[in-house]
Amino acid sequence: MNRIVYLNGHFSDEKDAKISIFDRSFLFSDSVYEVTTVLDGKMIDFDNHMKRLDRSMSELKFPKMLNHDSIKKFHKDLIVKNELKEGIIYLHVSRGVADRSFNFPPKNIDLTVVAFTQEKKLLKNDEVANGIRVMTVEDKRWKRCDIKTTQLLYPSFAKAQASEKGFDDAWMLRDGYISEGTSNNAWIIKSGNILTREADELILNGITRQSVINCAKLLGYKISYKGFTLDDAITADEAFITSATTFVTPVVNINGKQIKDGKPGKFTGQLREEYIKNSLKTAI
Ligand code: PDD
Repeated sequence: MNRIVYLNGHFSDEKDAKISIFDRSFLFSDSVYEVTTVLDGKMIDFDNHMKRLDRSMSELKFPKMLNHDSIKKFHKDLIVKNELKEGIIYLHVSRGVADRSFNFPPKNIDLTVVAFTQEKKLLKNDEVANGIRVMTVEDKRWKRCDIKTTQLLYPSFAKAQASEKGFDDAWMLRDGYISEGTSNNAWIIKSGNILTREADELILNGITRQSVINCAKLLGYKISYKGFTLDDAITADEAFITSATTFVTPVVNINGKQIKDGKPGKFTGQLREEYIKNSLKTAI
């Protein structure tokens, strides 16, 4: 990899981009992020990612906000400079550099803004073709999962645990209900009804989730904003995950128990196609 990356208004070779050891992101994970999909060299759902970024920053009382047009400009520049066709742009905003103190630093310090591209095969891959196998773990995250912070150690730990046991990902369980995947929203389809839990403080309200809800409505499906248990999921007709990096990807097995015939579901496939078609139409 020899990427051109963005740091605080400047582009540089990835090996030359450096941040301070006093950055609040490094010391406290005092930072938020967004991951925007790039397909065919264009960004999917950029405006909605910016709305969520603003929300995350304001929930954490960041004293300054960022201008969306300038973010759009450096995202587009990154796509061009790195000749990115299919993959993601990762954007990370930290409260900035200050002496280590648990209290928030003075409001006049500058935010640290980092962005880089990552190539990824999103349209066609084995996970889409075969579906994924997930393992459940207890959801031990804090209770503000609606804020997209870079505090990602527990999800990373859960994913590694799942991987060590031969699974593709983990679904997290809180109070008997599936909350979400380590980095995606969890869904099931049961008796013609699509279930996605209410977007409260215990899950991230995925941008892909919001678009897929619209796609499901366009296709005439019924949606219930209801939590579901592990048992509901294992006995569902279909299950899937959504995120900017997986779009709509089938789940075919949970904790070693296969869902129906253990093959990717038909409605899941339709939703994925509709999602990709609509996203490409509005990509910028
Ligand atoms: N993760 N839930 C969690 C916990 C997530 O981390 C993500 C996204 C989602 C889906 O959100 P969206 O549809 O906006 O991508 C749900 C990104 C992809 C990541 O951390 O890489």
